[in-house]
Amino acid sequence: MYSSFKKVSDSETILTELMIPSYSNFGGKVHGGILLSLMDKVAYVTAVKHCGNYAVTVAVEGVEFLNPVEVGELVSLKASVNYVGKTSLIIGMRIEALNPKTGVVKHTNSCYFTMAAKNENGELVQAPGIILENDEQIRRFAEGMAIKKLSKEKRTILKSDFLHLSKDEVRESISNEKCQIDF
Ligand SMILES: CC(C)(COP(=O)(O)OP(=O)(O)OC[C@H]1O[C@@H](n2cnc3c(N)ncnc32)[C@H](O)[C@@H]1OP(=O)(O)O)[C@@H](O)C(=O)NCCC(=O)NCCS
Repeated sequence: MYSSFKKVSDSETILTELMIPSYSNFGGKVHGGILLSLMDKVAYVTAVKHCGNYAVTVAVEGVEFLNPVEVGELVSLKASVNYVGKTSLIIGMRIEALNPKTGVVKHTNSCYFTMAAKNENGELVQAPGIILENDEQIRRFAEGMAIKKLSKEKRTILKSDFLHLSKDEVRESISNEKCQIDF
């Protein structure tokens, strides 16, 4: 049984995984897709712990690979619920890679997963609220509100800008870019 408000600490999740040779790309570094898959798993675990329900990934904001990850490093993914809306929640995640031989820790990535709570029938359901227990959690919640607003604005702008342009206007808008129109 889940209460309607839960603490951030109730769902905080940390996963540490060894980067094995089969994770590497042709350049010998860890494949970005491996990290994305781990990130999605950790976001899912954090969301279901908070919601007590099935959850789906809706959107990911801010994925940037700041540093390459090497085979043999220990990658830690730390995730927590930053913001809760009606049915959606934003999971903030920080990823670090530790070289166990040198002890050097690299910050490789920080990002935000929007997840939505669903029931067994695949219908959206209310996500429990969040209990904020310190200033950092309050700051993250406010940041989450801003992320939700910006992401909605971005979707609206992308749709409306391009829907209202004629084919000629669209062609004109890309005329100085690195592309050739070949039909
Ligand atoms: C995303 C999805 C839940 C949206 O459903 P919908 O019927 O359009 O419902 P809504 O518009 O009410 O959106 C539900 C919530 O998601 C949020 N949301 C919807 N689209 C979003 C987007 N592109 N980016 C961020 N948040 C989004 C809404 O803000 C809303 O949040 P709130 O309830 O906290 O206010 C639905 O499209 C879906 O189930 N997609 C598939 C998800 C999936 O299967 N993921 C795994 C991929 S393999």
